[in-house]
Amino acid sequence: MSYNTLILTIDGPAATLSFNRPEKLNALNPEMLAEFSRAVDAVRADQAIRVLLLTGQGRAFIAGADIKQFLELDPLRARQLAHAGQEVLFRLEALPIPVIACVHGFVLGGGLEVALACDFIYAAANTKFGAPEVNLGFNPCWGGPQRLARLAGKTLAKELCLTGRLIDAEEARNLGLVARVFPEASFLEECRNAARNLAAKSRLALESVKKVIDGGADADLKTGCALEAENFALCFVGPDVEEGVSAFLEKRKPRFQS
Ligand code: COA
Repeated sequence: MSYNTLILTIDGPAATLSFNRPEKLNALNPEMLAEFSRAVDAVRADQAIRVLLLTGQGRAFIAGADIKQFLELDPLRARQLAHAGQEVLFRLEALPIPVIACVHGFVLGGGLEVALACDFIYAAANTKFGAPEVNLGFNPCWGGPQRLARLAGKTLAKELCLTGRLIDAEEARNLGLVARVFPEASFLEECRNAARNLAAKSRLALESVKKVIDGGADADLKTGCALEAENFALCFVGPDVEEGVSAFLEKRKPRFQS
């Protein structure tokens, strides 16, 4: 499958989807959104892929949706664009495998919304995050305000989206948006190491962790705990628990089958 605006590489169990319009700081235009959507489906269909990294070519992860397109929008088309982006990000979020946003440079507007739909964000120290849509006269609409508010609270979500100010990687980490910050020089290697480590774990266990956290996030405590118990029970259906526990007791590395 070929793409004009992104590069999808598969290295054993790890897939890397890299946004590739570096001359426009990977601004997400309609073609890129359509290709992103196709790539998410391709990753989902390939059972050999166990972890997905999202990256950007050049000096940005994504500097937002392509601003040029907004002059052509009327209210109907605007709503369609909002739904199209939201739908792709829901599908990205629903992938059963871990998805890491490996971001550097600019992570703005729609780029921040893409990163927030991943399981977690690893950032290079030079990263700048922001939701500057307000400066163009509209609100972010690909789930960014919702995910920001759930992740870091309504106050922070409002402050970032109302002011449009940019924050650096360290501030983003302190606010809980970013899981880890790495020096620019070692950043990609650190992300690849993390992918290798995740790929060696039980696929069923990883899927269960995602299900209980995503499924419980908007539920009450008891519903979330019930989800944990059900998924814990399901982990014992396959051979991975026996392998993981035996490997620990025998002081060797596990070889999971799922
Ligand atoms: N949409 C369309 N084009 C964009 C873009 C976007 N979101 N972000 C950057 N670009 C383009 C620039 O227009 C420029 O193209 P050109 O060389 O044909 O003029 C190219 O990418 C490089 O960007 P430039 O502005 O020259 O780089 P910079 O280092 O001076 O500034 C930014 C970088 C990110 C601060 C600046 O590009 C910017 O503010 N971008 C818009 C961010 C934004 O508002 N995003 C939300 C959109 S909803």
